[in-house]
Parts: sequence; C-alpha cells; structure tokens
Amino acid sequence: MTEFNPDYTKPQYLLSTCPMYKESPLIHIQTISELDVFIKDESHRMGLGSFKALGGIYAVATLLAQGWLAVTGKSLTLEQYSSIEFKEFSSSTTFICASAGNHGLAVASGAKIFGAKAKIHLSEQVPEEFEKRLIEKLAVVVRSGRTYEESVDAAIKEANTGNGVLLADGSWQGYTSPPSLVMEGYTVIANELREQFTKIKKWPTHVFIQAGVGGLAASMAYMIREYWQQQPEIIIVESELAPCLQTSHQNGILTSVQGEVSIMGRLDCKAPSLVAFNALEKADVDYLTISDKESIDATRILQKNNISTTPSGAAGLAGLLKMVKEEKLKAFVSKNNFQPLIIVTENKL
Ligand SMILES: Cc1ncc(COP(=O)(O)O)c(C=O)c1O
Repeated sequence: MTEFNPDYTKPQYLLSTCPMYKESPLIHIQTISELDVFIKDESHRMGLGSFKALGGIYAVATLLAQGWLAVTGKSLTLEQYSSIEFKEFSSSTTFICASAGNHGLAVASGAKIFGAKAKIHLSEQVPEEFEKRLIEKLAVVVRSGRTYEESVDAAIKEANTGNGVLLADGSWQGYTSPPSLVMEGYTVIANELREQFTKIKKWPTHVFIQAGVGGLAASMAYMIREYWQQQPEIIIVESELAPCLQTSHQNGILTSVQGEVSIMGRLDCKAPSLVAFNALEKADVDYLTISDKESIDATRILQKNNISTTPSGAAGLAGLLKMVKEEKLKAFVSKNNFQPLIIVTENKL
C-alpha cells in the first residue's frame, strides 16, 4: 500500500496516555518583519526535543502490539503496555533504523519505554551530541557512511540479515507499512492545531512546512485537507541542496536528487518517501526551496523571540520570509489577508 490513510485517533489516544505527552504550544508573535505569525513549537515534544518523538514512539508501540497479537491471539490492552510481561515479550525485538538524529532518538526512546532494543545507523554528518543522547537511551549506535542515504542503505542491509526489524521514516516500493505508522504518529500535530485554532476562532491562511523525506509535510497536508475547517495554502519548504519532493512533483514521478551537504542536516535527504510523495501529490501543495544562509537568518529571528532552534527547525520561517520578500510585503499582506503558520520542528542542542 503506497496510499497514506491514517487514523489520527489512534496515536492521539495512545500517546496522550504517555506521562511525557503534553500538547505543544501554539505561539503568536508579531515581531517578525512586521508579520503576524503563528508558531507551533515542537522543540520540547515528549522531552525529546523534536516532533519526531511522536512518530518513532508510536510506531514502536504499534509494531510491538501487532507482534503481541500475532503470538498471543489477543489485542494488547492499554494497561498491558506498561506490564513486565509485555516488556519481556518485547525484549527479543531490535528495531533498526538510519537517522539524521531525531528519528533515531524517537525509535530508541520507544524501544526503551517498552523493553525492546534499538540499533541506529548514523552517517558521519550527524552531530556527536545525537550519538551521546542515543547511547543514554540505551541504543547501539554505529557510524555508517558519509551521507544520510548511505546510512539508510546500511540499516536496510543489516535488517535484511535478520538482525532486527527495520523501522525507517522513509518509504519505497515494497516497504511502506512501518513508515506509514511513523507518519500516522505525526498526525497528532495537525489534530492539536485543529483544536487550538477552533478554540481561538482564528485560522492560518498559509502553512509553511519543512521537509526532508516528506513524512511530516505529507502527514500535515493530509490532516489539513481532511479535517481543518478553513483551508490554507500549504507550502513545502526544502533545502535548495535537497529538493527531492519538488523535483519529484515536477517530474510526476519519485525522483532522487544529487547535491552538496546542507547545513540543514535533518532536511538533507536526497531521496523522498514514496508514501509521502503520493500523499503530497493529492493535497494541492506548493513548493519552495531555501538556501543555508536563509535558514541561519531565520534561526536568529527566532532566537530574538526566545525560540532556540537549528537551521532545520527554522526552515519553515525561512520559507515564509523568502516568499514575502519576493512580493511587496504590505500589499501582499493586505491582498491575501495573510496569517501564516510555521512549525519550529526541533530544539537547538
Ligand atoms: C527537526 C526536523 N525537522 C524536519 C524534518 C523533516 O521531516 P521529514 O523527514 O519527515 O520530512 C526532520 C526529519 O528528521 C527533523 O528532524
């Protein structure tokens, strides 16, 4: 199945029972280039520092529960998730993935919570700090390859030898179920936003979402088109060094790109996710690319507003600023009744 058909009630229910779960804040600031901007701040999500926590933890829990059902013939109850019996059952499973940092941290945390094991492949581009944090989560960490794509290949190769279950956040022909679960976990963000906007009776006109393999962007776009009362324009923001989704859209077919390494480490994915691409093709979205410099400028603006994030985390804002710079700001704002939303996707380590 290359279609994305999530049930947002499942992660909302499961994750909201986690002691670490808390709705992430919707902030409203007016200081960015005179613009009135909504910010969904994911930088403290589940105590892990990024929205990725929602996907990895939910996917680990769901895959283990599916295994439990297959072996015992019974569905796991909510109480049983924290039982010793379930932890003993889970201890024979190792989750394997490659990561630019945050997905690995989410998978390792999920594995630790439910008693499973995790082995994470990191390319040499991934900062040392992520390695340290992964080891704290009891994951086995291996440095594999020069680029993110090489670490993905190493993780697939290892899983194919039977050493564990591959839990990637990217997807491709023949491998779609675990990454779809990861994306289902992210639906919590758009669902929380729906509730937050309903409460304040104000909705964004434009939503800027940064993309790596496209899981977050596709999950958001699906949820917005399906469930939001008022429909915004959706703009997918990619690094100009890794515009794999925009290129795929232009070619009408999944396309990998080549390019130098971007400072936006978590967005520096040269191969898009198949499930994400298919979902985005149906969601009527626009694309924008930004430079490394534009992403750094955006972090400075956020810092002035007491939000500490990285170029990857600030990329949505960089996209917004690029779009308004290319138009005459005041005319643009009044013509479009402009009320943008950006997502700050990670904390600065
Ligand atoms: C902080 C941050 N922002 C954005 C993204 C992009 O998400 P996706 O790869 O699902 O497109 C990632 C992915 O790792 C990330 O860690």
